Amino acid sequence: MVKNTFYITTPIYYPSGKLHIGNSYTTIACDTMARFQRLMGKDVFFLTGSDEHGLKIQQKANKFHISPKSYVDLMAEDIKKLWQLLDISYDKFIRTTDKEHKAILQKVFERWLEQGDIYLGEYVGWYSVADEEYFTQTQLIEVFYDKNGKVIGGIAPSGHEVKQIKEESYFFRMSKYVDRLLQYYKDHPDFIQPVSRKNEMINNFINPGLEDLAVSRRTFTWGVSVLSNPKHMIYVWIDALLNYISALGYASLDDSLFKKYWPADIHVVGKEIIRFHAIYWPILLMSLDLPLPKKIFGHGWLLMKDAKMSKSKGNVVYSEVLVKRYGLDALRYYLLREVSFGSDGIFTPEGFLDRLNGELANDLGNLLNRVIAMINKYFAGKVPDFANEVTAFDKDLAKTAKEVIDTYHMAMEGIEFSVALEAIWHLIRRANKYIDETSPWILAKDKIKIKELAAVMVHLAESLRVIATLLQPIMPKTTEKITYQLGLSKDALQLKNLRFGQFSKGAVVVKKGDPIFPRLDVKSEIAYIFKQINTGKEKELQMD
Ligand code: MSP
Repeated sequence: MVKNTFYITTPIYYPSGKLHIGNSYTTIACDTMARFQRLMGKDVFFLTGSDEHGLKIQQKANKFHISPKSYVDLMAEDIKKLWQLLDISYDKFIRTTDKEHKAILQKVFERWLEQGDIYLGEYVGWYSVADEEYFTQTQLIEVFYDKNGKVIGGIAPSGHEVKQIKEESYFFRMSKYVDRLLQYYKDHPDFIQPVSRKNEMINNFINPGLEDLAVSRRTFTWGVSVLSNPKHMIYVWIDALLNYISALGYASLDDSLFKKYWPADIHVVGKEIIRFHAIYWPILLMSLDLPLPKKIFGHGWLLMKDAKMSKSKGNVVYSEVLVKRYGLDALRYYLLREVSFGSDGIFTPEGFLDRLNGELANDLGNLLNRVIAMINKYFAGKVPDFANEVTAFDKDLAKTAKEVIDTYHMAMEGIEFSVALEAIWHLIRRANKYIDETSPWILAKDKIKIKELAAVMVHLAESLRVIATLLQPIMPKTTEKITYQLGLSKDALQLKNLRFGQFSKGAVVVKKGDPIFPRLDVKSEIAYIFKQINTGKEKELQMD
């Protein structure tokens, strides 16, 4: 039996500060995919959440003079509010402080101890608090020496300072599974995407020799302790990765969700954490005799000019600011259109406004406005019945629509949102051109041309229905607005069996369509966005 479920996850985000459009980017992409799969008839489980343990969180809470638990409670609420604002259709929000998650993590850790996959040893290494990660000396981008040439510190690849730490620690025998992992990569060429990231994993981390991983710490107290040795806290990355199965109730009394949805169809993560997902996570799963996720997708970064957008650099844009001023779908559109999903992309206010004015207000907004106005003017709002190939231009419009639908499906299945959107805009532009080619205002002057005029109107309405249907997973609110203006019900949009030429009989369009994307004054809006970025910067600096 073919599995009809689709399990998709975002990374669980650190609530060490307010989330920005970088995190929104991943979550919106996953939401789009989840919506797409649901519309294609899949039984989807979409998981997101927050990664709430560790030293960084503990320190942040101290700074605000509240307990870590109170701090993460506040932050988790904030994140949920953001996802509500962005219309994120998640099925579950997991927190690593959830009682169920902690119990499962502890139980699994004990199993690893019993199996001998985890042993007690001593760790000597360089730790970056900001990254919550240990580095070997060779991984440091800069090493500090004292006057006798002894190494006393250094800088992690992220630019953060590291400190030497020596401690008793549990280790996971990663080396035991490395051959199986390599074989798995070979047998499943699509496991890591984009493919270039797989080579990175093999060349940078596996070939040099995969060391056993220190999986417990005594340097922090805000975490989940090892059941049989509570002085030790479980390393935050083990805690975090386990969320993907604990959220489904793995190894708990009710594991029905786990049975139904595991293995995940896709874990979507930013490229900086692909190593944890493509190396450690599969090994952890192998040691539990569980099937591996089907795909790990490491997407690119959203950059500000040359630097990654990040709270510590203070060059951050917040989604709330853009959504409040320009609407949610402007943001969803921009993020998925501007950047090809595997690559890096640069956020610029100019680029954002260009797309809003050019593609949303002009191309799409005008098409809808013109069509609604003409159907009102020439047919008193009633959309004529569909007729095939009446004017000389109908055939080409229908052919374009067919090609666009095909390209769109391939692109969406292949996680290429920008390609899918490009295809939709190809149809939008083709429909606008069709208006110029058929010149309805000339046809309207001639009574004999009424049939042609009717065909033109319904071909345009049908193009808009197809466009609205294709946009549904990406910009659900815009789809609703277009559908409403066309006088259609939601049932008229069936993504799964979408074909050109199915426009509902008897639809009546609205009397007057409101512009769905108003044109903006670029100069003043650029100034507005820059001001918001700078205000954000001041706020962040004050907090740090
Ligand atoms: N808590 C870990 C993930 C554990 S998953 C088992 C973590 N959290 S995080 O808050 O730092 O979020 C990182 C993720 O946020 C990235 O992997 C990426 O998906 C997203 N992004 C954060 N900043 C981003 C950009 N500037 N650009 C694109 N994505 C960004 O790592």
